[in-house]
Amino acid sequence: MTTQDPIYKTDALIAENIDAYLEAHQHKTMLRFITCGSVDDGKSTLIGRLLYDSKMIFEDQLAALEADSKRVGTQGQEIDFALLVDGLAAEREQGITIDVAYRFFATEKRKFIVADTPGHEQYTRNMVTGASTADVAVILIDARKGVLTQTRRHSYLVNLLGIRHVVLAVNKMDLVGYDQAIFDKIVEEYGEFARSIGIDAFTAIPISGFKGDNITGPSENTPWYHGTALLPHLETVELDTTADQAKPFRMPVQWVNRPNLDFRGFAGLVASGTVRPGDAIRVLPSGKTSTIARVVSLDGDRDLAVAGESVTLTFADEIDCSRGQVIVAAQSPLEVADQFESTLVWMDEHELVPGRAYWLKIGTQTVSATVHAPKYEVNVNTQEHLATKTLDLNAIGVANITTDREIPFAPYDDNRDLGGFILIDKITNHTVAAGMIHFALRRAQNIHWQATDIGREHHAGMKHQKPAVLWLTGLSGSGKSTIANIVEKKLARMNRHTFLLDGDNVRHGLNKDLGFTEADRIENIRRVGEVAKLMTDAGLIVITAFISPFRSERDMVRGMMQPGEFVEVFVDTPLSVAEGRDVKGLYAKARAGQLKNFTGIDSPYEAPEAPEIRIDTTEITPEQAADLIIARLIP
Ligand code: ADX
Repeated sequence: MTTQDPIYKTDALIAENIDAYLEAHQHKTMLRFITCGSVDDGKSTLIGRLLYDSKMIFEDQLAALEADSKRVGTQGQEIDFALLVDGLAAEREQGITIDVAYRFFATEKRKFIVADTPGHEQYTRNMVTGASTADVAVILIDARKGVLTQTRRHSYLVNLLGIRHVVLAVNKMDLVGYDQAIFDKIVEEYGEFARSIGIDAFTAIPISGFKGDNITGPSENTPWYHGTALLPHLETVELDTTADQAKPFRMPVQWVNRPNLDFRGFAGLVASGTVRPGDAIRVLPSGKTSTIARVVSLDGDRDLAVAGESVTLTFADEIDCSRGQVIVAAQSPLEVADQFESTLVWMDEHELVPGRAYWLKIGTQTVSATVHAPKYEVNVNTQEHLATKTLDLNAIGVANITTDREIPFAPYDDNRDLGGFILIDKITNHTVAAGMIHFALRRAQNIHWQATDIGREHHAGMKHQKPAVLWLTGLSGSGKSTIANIVEKKLARMNRHTFLLDGDNVRHGLNKDLGFTEADRIENIRRVGEVAKLMTDAGLIVITAFISPFRSERDMVRGMMQPGEFVEVFVDTPLSVAEGRDVKGLYAKARAGQLKNFTGIDSPYEAPEAPEIRIDTTEITPEQAADLIIARLIP
């Protein structure tokens, strides 16, 4: 250890004046960074080195390490470097499938959080998670290997995710004899690539995580290097929040704080700008305006809050404001829209399904959204645009997105919090993509809902009935059409106004352009759902008979109807029975390979989990099934 070592001075300060130490510690800024590298670039060793040299390992990490070995002591005692690195690596192995490991340490000048993400390509998701909040990315290169595909891929993502400070750490310099020529060649090659993807500046440092060269201070082994060492560099990088403070005020509302009738505050993290009592504000998307009455933090009332701080705001007027809405400076509002062009980084094993509804989480709100067919996919090595119909695991592409309501947003380049989003699969709950908004599409702004005088109640009232959708789902040949037909006849006899939409029939007209791929089936059901909705608006009882094999789309149609209006009827016939009947001879064809994407054979059927009605056709007749459905509709 040298006297330059940050911890050396810290220890001295603690000994001299504990109050001064605590005071200094409290006002230190926090820098978040991510380390990116391939499998053997020495990431664990580097992180171990940073922790080791700063000696500020948090208690929980120590406890974990201690459990591993009795030789590791408590804070302040000597820790074996090799042991520390092993401990970190082992800990990450265990957590590898869960998430990113965040490590904390501090020096005299700053506190640090480093996101340690596994290097394998399949963990793009983790890298995106770690990078989304980072101020700095440390891109690790093995001096023996130079710039790799992974280096390009990570750099592309780092830039895409808006990290403004890139450090190129050329590691393992000890293994190439601290050769300047090797370092220079790597920097030149990387520089060329970096510029091609829009990284204008980066800081290259020759290091050895293992030996400690250029980590805390200049190394004697690289006299030809005149830049700063890694840790001093990280201590002095300008934080993003400083730049964010100069921008207009924006704060997404996290929750409404109403402890009693006299206090109604809106809590959240200031995404950009500054806020003071007396400032004129606007709430989006409603557009209502007011004035800030108080700015309250944990320490009490404040005169000012800035980007990066969590506060509660109160207004001078009682205007509506709720979770997910955004409070902005009155004179510089955000755009509000429901259609966007955006970049998507696909992170799920199951590819993007254009047309399917996903949850879209942006800022503090979650809305339903559909992704259109991608415009193109990006080859991250060459920046080429490739034509594609979908996005597979790790693919990066550009697509239009439609949300089910208008949301306030900023382009991602302006504000990561208000322009970045994630997509979540509605069934599996997996985060399937990270997205960055480019801009809003204009076309939606010229179409407005037209209010009509004769509404759905009027239509239904004239027919003396309550509209409903009896949605029959099941395999081909399960008996949907037969049962639906009997239901309609019985209802007609009871003077009910009905309409039967049947898969085979609708595919002769409205949907004759659709086949049986996943995307086409989704579009089939979307259109049928819209038609069924119009028919309920007309006051009808709609009966549908479609395989509708996917839970997501059945749920989507359910969501389009009034509560209680959608009755899911699972016509449950085992595949063997449906195939045995094979009325249309289609199963035989599918088995012979003459018919592709046949449901139950080489295309999935997702059985309903909680249908309103389940019909076991091996137990009851179609006649009995129809009675069951009607009994539920008209008790
Ligand atoms: S859905 O999956 O999109 O809901 P839909 O109910 O409209 O399907 O159409 C299913 C009908 O199309 C079947 O009853 C069958 O007669 C016919 N069909 C033709 N090809 C296929 C296929 N590959 N898979 C399923 N049904 C098919």
